Amino acid sequence: MNSVHCALMFTIADHLEIRNDHLIIGNVDTISLAEEFETPLYVTNESRVIKNFSAYREAFPEADIYYAAKANGSFAILRILARQGAGADVFSYGELYMALLAGIPREKILFNGNSKTNFELEKAVELSVKVSVDSLDELHTLSNLAHEAGKNVEIAFRVNPDVSPKTHPKISTGLRSSKFGIPSDEVVSAYNEAAGLPGITPAGIHCHIGSQILETTSFNEAAHKMMDLVEKVTKIGIDLKFVDMGSGLGIPYTKDEGHAPTPKDHAKAIVPVFKEKTKELGISPKLILEPGRYIVADTTILLTRVNTMKKASKNFVGVDAGFNLLVRPTMYDSYHYAVVANKAASFAQETYTIVGPICETGDIFAKDRLLPHIEKGDIIALLDAGAYGFSMSSQYNGRPRCAEVLVNDGKADIIRTREDIQDLMGRQVLPSRLM
Ligand code: LLP
Repeated sequence: MNSVHCALMFTIADHLEIRNDHLIIGNVDTISLAEEFETPLYVTNESRVIKNFSAYREAFPEADIYYAAKANGSFAILRILARQGAGADVFSYGELYMALLAGIPREKILFNGNSKTNFELEKAVELSVKVSVDSLDELHTLSNLAHEAGKNVEIAFRVNPDVSPKTHPKISTGLRSSKFGIPSDEVVSAYNEAAGLPGITPAGIHCHIGSQILETTSFNEAAHKMMDLVEKVTKIGIDLKFVDMGSGLGIPYTKDEGHAPTPKDHAKAIVPVFKEKTKELGISPKLILEPGRYIVADTTILLTRVNTMKKASKNFVGVDAGFNLLVRPTMYDSYHYAVVANKAASFAQETYTIVGPICETGDIFAKDRLLPHIEKGDIIALLDAGAYGFSMSSQYNGRPRCAEVLVNDGKADIIRTREDIQDLMGRQVLPSRLM
């Protein structure tokens, strides 16, 4: 077995296979997909989304799973998850709107965010969704808005528990220095204040320590700190209906991350701490988790076609997708397996660096990878691209965004059409003096 094959056998989630040297996803040939829908193309396997969500639900049978819509906010994905009974963590009015439209019940939505606009808070009030409040400033604004509207909003405070998630600094969110949440030692007085404000019902407590977390000890540490706060807050008379522990469970993007914890490991780090403390206090709040990456990351591949080959300081392969479509390698130095989808079982014999067409040196998807001999026109699949892939895309360098396809047991449906030049120009207005 050569190294490409070896890598594949490892990451290959059971929905990826190789047949006749072609990479197959959800029983559909990726090369036919590239021909029918053109490249670049995001391809998501529906059954894998359901499988990952079910794994979470089974690991936390008594909790509510609020899917973090930011990981992949495509409407079809939200709809699939709504049908599975998911709730949603939303971070903007856009995400809230789409989650509701997809059929996620408003009782299972938490509106998160550290800098919400008044418009967003008004919408949360109007649509009666729970709000995770990130500061006292926001608390007062929300109270005024709810009071004026004659409504009452259930809130949680986002706590900054000062826990290291041992992940990339850009996605560590619960460190003391992070912009998110209220410092632990100010939390009790924040609840006291909230309890006396019109339009506000303190109903929960919330934290989220970071993303792509591979050591469950961090979840355990956060659980202990949060449950200590639950005790303090309960003792001042607050009736907590929910404890939202966020998420951040990582996935094994590389072979070295083969020890990646599962939702069951995540549950082992949190649930006993939660149960023990709630029992001791005689309270029964709902436990909430907010996984994003785990649900969608390995469900999706990005197909991209080779435009140019160049031997220079490196053996460069220029493809038609750039970091405008998948920014993770550029932004977080993240690793995504690259598979030559039309030579998926061929012998890996040359070292290549796969780069996009963007006018920036950092536009690199994969450095020095041993792959089968590559030629112009070949199709490369970048694996594990479902989380923070399309959702972080842009039109940078005047590039319309690509299409998205959903596959399911041999069938392929378009779920987002390719943008065109009109989508670049559509909203732009020329002042008459420039005509
Ligand atoms: N809840 C809150 C409040 C969050 O901020 C996030 C992610 C999640 C839940 C979901 O976390 P997950 O289970 O997906 O790790 N763009 C970065 C990741 C940013 C994560 C932002 N917050 C990346 O591509 O690695």
